[in-house]
Amino acid sequence: EEDERTERIEAALEELGDDVVILGHNYQRREIVEHADFVGDSYQLSKQAAAADAEYVVFGGVTFMAESADIITDDDQAVILPSMEASCPMAGMAEALQVDSAWAEITEAASDADIVPITYMNSYADLKAFCASQGGLVCTSSNAHRAFEYAFEKGDKVLFLPDKHLGENTAHRLGMADEIAEWDPWDPDGKDADEVAESDIILWDGYCQVHERFRVEHVDEIREEHPDANVVVHPECRREVVEAADVVGSTSTICETVAQADPDETWAIGTEIHLTNHLQRWHPEVTVLPLCGEACMDCNAMRQIDPNYLAWVLEELAEGREHNVIEVAPEEKELAEVALDRMLEI
Ligand code: 13P
Ligand code: SF4
Repeated sequence: EEDERTERIEAALEELGDDVVILGHNYQRREIVEHADFVGDSYQLSKQAAAADAEYVVFGGVTFMAESADIITDDDQAVILPSMEASCPMAGMAEALQVDSAWAEITEAASDADIVPITYMNSYADLKAFCASQGGLVCTSSNAHRAFEYAFEKGDKVLFLPDKHLGENTAHRLGMADEIAEWDPWDPDGKDADEVAESDIILWDGYCQVHERFRVEHVDEIREEHPDANVVVHPECRREVVEAADVVGSTSTICETVAQADPDETWAIGTEIHLTNHLQRWHPEVTVLPLCGEACMDCNAMRQIDPNYLAWVLEELAEGREHNVIEVAPEEKELAEVALDRMLEI
């Protein structure tokens, strides 16, 4: 079945020629990554989208990534997501309307301060637009520290959303661990106005349900079973897990870490399982282990991009029919682009 599908994908791609480029996130399945023109982390893929001149950008990733590609590409280019079901739950944890009303409370609590909002790339376009409207910007896991530095040049406090773990890990990296206040929009007791007034960094209470499941016990177990193992984790992991690891970084940092390892080294990977599996295939000379072998480390949103859907959208494009085009509303697009451009410039 896979051979037949591969032939269909290749035939459609031949028909489409330079009209199509396929971008694939590191968490995509092997059958998607193998057909991608570029594979990388969220930041690298946004750069590739900006540089692409193909008429169609087919995105192996999740909705917020395809939205960002639509914002960054020209108006005559179409961004296509092979499945409309591929939505990152973390992005849904900070809805623009909800943030808008929290913003009123937060700015009132810290009325003497200039607060700069930073949203992680894992958010929808309307939230990116909101951040731009308040002088803020977007960041990814590879440049969050630089986004914080930019924000502290412009203002006194940062509101970081949606991922509290990336926010906390970035605060530690910048030596600002004592400056954190948390803002839990779902808990009436989770919003302490005094804490907000006193702290430089306010963290929205969102998280990734894949990375949050890694625990320090997983690191302890792996070190016990493989005493020579090194551990690399994504900064969406809890603070304790990051502290217990040897290296922390974006999915591209994880890839580079394994690519640069000596052949006799062992690396345990604390991120989505598909990337761990790719690293095992790409670097057979290195011993690559999942930090935790449980199936829960599979991102259900990324998994929605089924290779059969890729074959379908490409065959349809080759016949002149567009499906699953991701289009950001014009009123959000302009401002969201400002927030993304600020990131691309830092
Ligand atoms: P990267 O930006 O590191 O590729 O991460 C994206 C993501 O969704 C992690 O869960
Ligand atoms: Fe979202 Fe987590 Fe999946 Fe990344 S791994 S797309 S943050 S749910």
